[in-house]
Amino acid sequence: MNRLILTLAALAMASACAGRPEAASRAAIEARGGEIAQTQCGACHATGRAGESPAPEAPPFRTLSRNYRVANLEEALAEGISVGHPAMPQFAFAPDDVDALITYLDSIQEAPADAP
Ligand code: HEC
Repeated sequence: MNRLILTLAALAMASACAGRPEAASRAAIEARGGEIAQTQCGACHATGRAGESPAPEAPPFRTLSRNYRVANLEEALAEGISVGHPAMPQFAFAPDDVDALITYLDSIQEAPADAP
């Protein structure tokens, strides 16, 4: 998880050095990810640090890392494939949006109850 954060930070710095105007601070990226989560996923999933999912079968995002590697989602989201549940619509995200969403999801994960 920390490696993911470092990688994202490195990427953000690299793009800042390249002078890309859209290069944003981590906080801004997180905020954008939270917005995407809320608007794209919030109809079914609890997307914040608290609260129940509107769809009871949909796991709250803050618990995803209990049985799912959040980093693995990145590829799935970028390729626009569904992440493995039939009730969920298919999404296709731009790379920047995937980064934002993953950064956000990473930031809200509860500490695992007990590591294997
Ligand atoms: C229309 C409702 C709906 C929307 C919108 C939705 N989901 Fe889901 N999602 C579900 C349901 C229901 C489940 C649990 C059922 C299952 O795992 O088969 C689920 C489960 C998941 C899981 C766990 C999958 C696994 O294999 O354990 C992930 C990750 C996930 N959703 C991500 C997202 C993301 C990211 C978005 C927004 C881009 C999103 N979902 C939007 C309904 C939805």
